[in-house]
Amino acid sequence: MLDVSKIVEPDRVRREAYTDAAVFDLEMQRIHETVWIYCGHQSQIPKVGDYYQVQIGRQPMLMVRGKDNKVHVLYNRCPHRGNMMCGDRHGNTGEQFRCSYHAWQFHHDGRLKQIPMMESGYAGTRLNKDSPELSMKRAARVESYRGFVFASLSATGPGLKEFLGKSIVAFDDMCDRAPEGEVEVVPNCFRVIQHSNWKLFMENQIDALHPSVVHQSTGRAAHEVEKQLARKAKAGEALSYHMLSAFATVTIDKWDNFQTVSYPYGHCILAGYMGLRPQDPDTLAYDKIMIKKYGQKRFEEIVGVNIHHVLVYPGLSVQSPLQQLRAVRPLGVDRTLTEIWHFRLKGAPEAIYRRSLAYYNLVNSPATLINADDLENFWKCHQGLSSDGGDWVSLARHHGHDIEKDGTVSSAPNQGTSEAPMRNQMKAWAKYMQA
Ligand code: FES
Ligand SMILES: [Fe+2]
Repeated sequence: MLDVSKIVEPDRVRREAYTDAAVFDLEMQRIHETVWIYCGHQSQIPKVGDYYQVQIGRQPMLMVRGKDNKVHVLYNRCPHRGNMMCGDRHGNTGEQFRCSYHAWQFHHDGRLKQIPMMESGYAGTRLNKDSPELSMKRAARVESYRGFVFASLSATGPGLKEFLGKSIVAFDDMCDRAPEGEVEVVPNCFRVIQHSNWKLFMENQIDALHPSVVHQSTGRAAHEVEKQLARKAKAGEALSYHMLSAFATVTIDKWDNFQTVSYPYGHCILAGYMGLRPQDPDTLAYDKIMIKKYGQKRFEEIVGVNIHHVLVYPGLSVQSPLQQLRAVRPLGVDRTLTEIWHFRLKGAPEAIYRRSLAYYNLVNSPATLINADDLENFWKCHQGLSSDGGDWVSLARHHGHDIEKDGTVSSAPNQGTSEAPMRNQMKAWAKYMQA
C-alpha cells in the first residue's frame, strides 16, 4: 500500500511521484480512470457513425456519434474474443460496428446487433442475444459542456459541471468569443510524445517563471524580425511574430504580474491575458460583428476575460482567448502523449481564424522552437528525477504567502511566479491517491 503522506508534503514532492511505475499504475486507476477526462469536441464526429479513438488512463476508448445523434463513449474492445473494434485512429464505422475478426455487429451505443448464426451457435450455452456481456462496454458516464465531451470510467463521483467548477470558464471563454456562441474543431490534431511523466507537462503549463528563461532565445530572434516587419509596415505579419517575441519582451520580473488561482480537484487559472486586442482592421471588423450580436456591454465583458491558461486537472490545458487546447494522455510513467488542437470561432471572420492558426503553428505545434524548448526540459527533468542525485522536488516558491478563501488558493499580488498551482495539483493528487 502506497503511503502518500511520505510522498507529498505541502511544499515538496518525492521524486517517485514522477518515476515509480507502481505509482503510475495507481494514479491511472485512482485519477485518470476515475475522474472526468476530455474525450474530444462534438464537431470531430459530425456524422452518424463517425468515431475517434481516445485514451482514458490505460483504456483505449472510442467516441462515436450514434443514430440518435448522441455521442457515446465505448471501450474499443469486441466482447467476443477481445479484438480491438476500430484499428484506425478515426473514421466512420457505417450503420454499425462490425468486428473484423468474426463479424459480430454492434449498434453505435455498444448494444449487440447481430452474431453470425447466433441461434445455432449459442443454443444451450450460457449466452443468448440479451446477455449483457455481449455488448461493447460503455464508459460509466458521458457528459458534454458546450460541445466539449468528457467521460468518466467511474459510476460515482461529482457530475461534470461540479467537477469542472470555476475551470469551466475555459469553455465559456472560448465559445463566448464566437459570434454564434460555439466553436468548431479544426481537424486533425498534432500529436507529440514527450519522454517524461505527465505531471511535468501539467505543471509547466502554469509555470510563469519558465517562459522568459526557456523561450528567451526564440523570443529574441522573433523580436528582431518583428521590428523589421514593423519598419516595413507589415502589421499583419508582425502580429504573428509578436506571439513569439512576447517570450523575450515580457521579462522574468513581469511574469510576477500574472496571477494564479487554484481550485478544488487540482484545476488552475493563470490570469493575465497576453493581449490580442490590437486595433488592426481585422480585429475591428470582428469587434463590429460581436457588438452587433451581443451589444457593447456584453462584448466588453467577453473580450475582457483575463485568462492566459486554464488547466483542467488532470489532463487538459486550454488557452481560450486563442482557441487552443492540449489534451494530455499518459502512456507510461516516462511517456506522455499530448494532442494539440485548435478551434474556429463560428461566425468570426477568416482573419481571426488565421490568428488562431498562427498561434497554433508558431507556439504550440511540434514544429515550433517553443514546443521544442519545453520538450527538452521535460526530458531533462525526467532524467534528473530518475537519478539518485536528490529525493525531493521543491515547490517552495512563495510558499506561505498563498491566499486561501473558500477552497480557492490565489497567489499573492506580484507573486505570479509562485509555485502555488503546483502545490495545489499535488494536494489534489494526494487526495485522489488516498481515496
Ligand atoms: S473477436 Fe470480435 S467477433 Fe470475434
Ligand atoms: Fe514553455
